[in-house]
Amino acid sequence: MPKQSLRDAEVQRKRVLLRVDFNVPLDMGTGAISDDSRIRGSLPSIRYLVDHRAKIIICSHLGRPKGKVDEKLRMKPVAERLSQLMGLPVSMAPDCVGRQTRESVKELGEGDILCLENVRFHREEETNDPGFAQELASLADIFVNDAFGTAHRAHASTVGVTNYLPAVAGFLMERELEAIGGLLNDPKRPFACVMGGAKVSDKMGLVENMLKRVNSLLIGGGMAATFLKAQRYEVGRSLVEDDKLDLAKELLHEASKREVHLLLPVDVVVADKVEAQAPAEVVPTGKITPKVHIVDIGPQTMELFSSELNKCRTIIWNGPMGIYEMPRFAQGTRSLVTLLSTLNATTVIGGGSSTDIVREMRLSDKMTHVSTGGGATLEFLEGIPLPGVEALLDKM
Ligand code: 3PG
Repeated sequence: MPKQSLRDAEVQRKRVLLRVDFNVPLDMGTGAISDDSRIRGSLPSIRYLVDHRAKIIICSHLGRPKGKVDEKLRMKPVAERLSQLMGLPVSMAPDCVGRQTRESVKELGEGDILCLENVRFHREEETNDPGFAQELASLADIFVNDAFGTAHRAHASTVGVTNYLPAVAGFLMERELEAIGGLLNDPKRPFACVMGGAKVSDKMGLVENMLKRVNSLLIGGGMAATFLKAQRYEVGRSLVEDDKLDLAKELLHEASKREVHLLLPVDVVVADKVEAQAPAEVVPTGKITPKVHIVDIGPQTMELFSSELNKCRTIIWNGPMGIYEMPRFAQGTRSLVTLLSTLNATTVIGGGSSTDIVREMRLSDKMTHVSTGGGATLEFLEGIPLPGVEALLDKM
């Protein structure tokens, strides 16, 4: 059921509690924000609220402080970056609840922006404590959820507050739901999913759900080793989750039953050690020896993937094709990103490290949609209902 959005709400002169996901990566040494895409992603909602003279109360978590104040996880640098990006002042509340915070809210004029302190400094956030949720909600007249990246968490600031306030989706949330929901429900065909990443167990639910929807499923990265082993290939010392071999076999069987083109690597880059300078070579998948590790897909595989993807009108990609953190083993992933950026198809990049790579290669604007979610995007793609979305008002 589609959800009401900011456009459906009467926000003029109202106090709006805007839940965003400003859980941005911070440089370990300096504490500086190393990627502000999540802040940029919510600017359209914030601009709309400013233009409509709302009193804007921004609420987010940052990191995992586990219910205690952590000086390194204060929201101040985030509020400062937001202020720079908006070209407007953003004031900081001393906390996210309590008397002083209520005072800060009272001082808000129309179009003003206040940033609450990290909501996870309170244990009650993650336990979705009703009293805490009610106190947060009492700061505002309307709740707008733009935190797609946190929509898989049933916390006080994502779900609890909706028991006390009318709740609608922000524009970032709306865009994510349309882009990802659209390709799950009504994709232009042929529809392909390219999957990678190290751990197969994290992705089995996704493979299962995708098999019901796609025409082609292309598997690379570390997880390919489990599928190759399930087909009795030697995979050397590559990480294989042996307890997932039966499931991998079932999924391979399911793919052929459903006539899904399931493509696995036909050649791979192997190395004696998973080390940046380790000697490496390309070998056909049938020639992997017992002492090596698979570290990337090979050029033949890339050609095979490329010819399949060139036929597709919708493509979703999640997970690197190799150990992309090591430049010598990043070729497969980088070639895939370059290919996706040139295809005449709807291309959706599904969260986590895939989005980091696309941004690092400065190709985000060549993709149809680059998701801001990590775990939330994966769960959504797996077909798991997201509590933060479910709690919003249905469109009438
Ligand atoms: C994320 O980065 O995936 C979201 O902000 C959620 O963070 P969490 O995994 O700490 O709940």
